[in-house]
Amino acid sequence: MVNKTIIVSNRLPVKIVEENGEYLLSPSEGGLATGLGSVYKKGNNIWIGWPGIEIPLERQQEVTEKLAALNLIPVFLTPDEINLYYEGFSNEVLWPVFHYMVTYAHFEQVYWDSYQKVNGKFKDVVTAHLNEGDTIWIHDYQLLLLSERIRNIQPHVTIGFFQHIPFPSYEMFRLIPWREELINGMFGADLLGFHTFDDVRHFLSAASRISAAKISDNVITYKDRQLVVEAFPMGIDAGKFENLVHDPVVAEHVISLKETMHNCKVILTIDRLDYSKGILQRLQAYELLLETHPEYADRLSLYMIVVPSRDTVAQYKELKDQIDQLVGNINARFRTLNWLPVHYFYRSFPVEFLSALYSTADICLVTPMRDGMNLVSKEYVASRTDNTGVLILSEMAGASKELNDALIVNPNNIGEVMRAIVEGLNMSVEEQRVRMSVMRGIVRKFDIYLWVKNFMDKLEEVKHMQESLLTK
Ligand code: F6P
Repeated sequence: MVNKTIIVSNRLPVKIVEENGEYLLSPSEGGLATGLGSVYKKGNNIWIGWPGIEIPLERQQEVTEKLAALNLIPVFLTPDEINLYYEGFSNEVLWPVFHYMVTYAHFEQVYWDSYQKVNGKFKDVVTAHLNEGDTIWIHDYQLLLLSERIRNIQPHVTIGFFQHIPFPSYEMFRLIPWREELINGMFGADLLGFHTFDDVRHFLSAASRISAAKISDNVITYKDRQLVVEAFPMGIDAGKFENLVHDPVVAEHVISLKETMHNCKVILTIDRLDYSKGILQRLQAYELLLETHPEYADRLSLYMIVVPSRDTVAQYKELKDQIDQLVGNINARFRTLNWLPVHYFYRSFPVEFLSALYSTADICLVTPMRDGMNLVSKEYVASRTDNTGVLILSEMAGASKELNDALIVNPNNIGEVMRAIVEGLNMSVEEQRVRMSVMRGIVRKFDIYLWVKNFMDKLEEVKHMQESLLTK
């Protein structure tokens, strides 16, 4: 039997959509799906995760067979589990605390009970497909307990874990009533990866204060096992975004976008609906700009895409209402018969249209309050094949550690964001080219394929280190 890699994440890289009673598979455009496509589509590798909607018991076999053809293995969640494990513990406890928005957190015991149960459910599916010599790569905060659960059954198995969202400072993390269980759950991995050194530092600090583990540099010794914690800043499929620029469909979109936007400069923002993304604050900065710089009326537009997400969670619904209201106010206050200050869309778009937007936008405004990495900023950079354009980037996004040539802002400082927009609008093409070409070089070199390779190579190195320690 050839050894395989098992990728595990809360969601599978394809969505199941129901149309007239039929289940259809729709490929996900996410960066992770593209990058890991090179892994799970190879040989007998597989990807285990939730297909994204509730599938009734009597149709689970049909869905399992459809997915099996793509090397995908489903974990089916009941409505209660979706409510308590996914919306509850994952998105109303871990998400707000890890993004420093603790007032949004609800520390409910039923959420925790369900989180443990569903991590156990994932463990059952993983172990049912696990053979000796296989490598398991677990992704993200929804599955913090999974490594330990698997290791309890298979003590020598190889497990990598990567967290796609920030790891908060100890003072935040300690607020969670189940902090010790979470840390111990993560210790089940051999290699723990985060986007930035700050995340690594925060994790090591929490681990040293909460657990009985011994920590030396980035090596943790726990229950006679050694595991390593390291930063792996995630990249994108830069080549794909560069090539898209030359796609005829994209070129057509660019032409019609330019017609729609007349001679306005375009400021682009694209986010999932989330309070961590700073969408309201960004709108306030734009409103301040229109207020204090009337000379820009008619000359620029904010093109704002908000992708629907988690809209069954109360805080997300509320945010959606606030955004709708603020956009309405700005447009009502500043618009003219021929000019709309904010073009706002609450929907997702195909990648060809996004590519056209990246090509058209004079400025890309990425100002999250907190973000693990933020791949939109990298997609914008990769799409600027003529090296023009200005990226305004929050210092709270992991990407700001790599893309130093962006205009870096504190998203809480509305005046600073406004001034950065003005600076971007007035930046000379020469300066744009200098900054953008440096950033493009970085995004192209440290792409998603190198990210996968670096993580997998390190995991292998850690296993060798463990083995050599055992034979000493
Ligand atoms: O990167 C963070 C993350 O939560 C991923 O785990 C997830 O796939 C993505 O954002 C979208 O979130 P959700 O799966 O809750 O729609």
